[in-house]
Amino acid sequence: MSAQAPVQPRRVENLHTDKGKVPVYATGVVDQHWEGYAAEDHATWATLFERQRKLLVGRACSAFLEAQDAMGMTPDRIPKYDDLNRVLEPATGWRLVGVEGLLPELDFFEHLANRRFPVTWWIRRPDQIDYIEEPDLFHDLFGHVPLLMDPVFADYMAAYGRGGVKAHAIGPDALQNLTRLYWYTVEFGLIREAGGLRIYGSGIVSSSGESVHALESPAPNRIGFDLERIMRTRYRIDTYQKTYFVIDDFEQLMAATAPDFTPIYARLAEQPSIPAGAVLGTDVVHQRGSGEGWAADGDV
Ligand code: PHE
Ligand code: CO
Repeated sequence: MSAQAPVQPRRVENLHTDKGKVPVYATGVVDQHWEGYAAEDHATWATLFERQRKLLVGRACSAFLEAQDAMGMTPDRIPKYDDLNRVLEPATGWRLVGVEGLLPELDFFEHLANRRFPVTWWIRRPDQIDYIEEPDLFHDLFGHVPLLMDPVFADYMAAYGRGGVKAHAIGPDALQNLTRLYWYTVEFGLIREAGGLRIYGSGIVSSSGESVHALESPAPNRIGFDLERIMRTRYRIDTYQKTYFVIDDFEQLMAATAPDFTPIYARLAEQPSIPAGAVLGTDVVHQRGSGEGWAADGDV
């Protein structure tokens, strides 16, 4: 148990300037400062938790739902990292650490490589219940942490961290390729289960709108996982995804990402990126999206 830090950590959010939003990075690990949460913070957690759990039964993959129960996450109050760590560490060696906001890329990778998952200590304000730009405690804890209980997914996340340290040393293009992989798996991945497609991506499970959209909307493409295809696919962070990629199981993800990416990065540097909504002749298409409601102003 860490002693309670006397000073409340900072709440680091994006800067809103007349040139648009600028992400602000914060390094360092902070105490969760659990005693400092207001009743309003616990109420926000409760509202979000109850709404998402109702939506996610039958939509999230079984590993996610079972792990959330096993960890003892409940709606009544924001969980304490120390309590979750007592379950998580013996299970897969992962440990939660508190952070103030977005981490610089290399810091983030080094945490993951060492099986430390950075969790934003603060939760969104009531006026941000339905949408917030930055990852907050609800996204990080409710969305990311449960699957760290799954042994295969836990290994994937640590391998991703080591891969990130490596890609960071290779250069910005390699890093962009790797970041797209994270985006389309860890954040927005779908998985095939006996009952049909299910969600495992944290960006989906922590969003009420996208939890329904990702599975039920006719608008997006749903395409079989393909490593190099994903690494070339652009995305945008401020709309629902135009394309979701589907894995068969976490073993497939682990096996596909096991090879050394260095020659893959070199090969991809010669190829153009793929727009977020494109469907290629080589794709295994579960569903071709109607494109309904897609933003017309492009993607990154
Ligand atoms: N195999 C990758 C590499 O050599 C590392 C990695 C593993 C990346 C798992 C992502 C996920 O860079
Ligand atoms: Co996230």
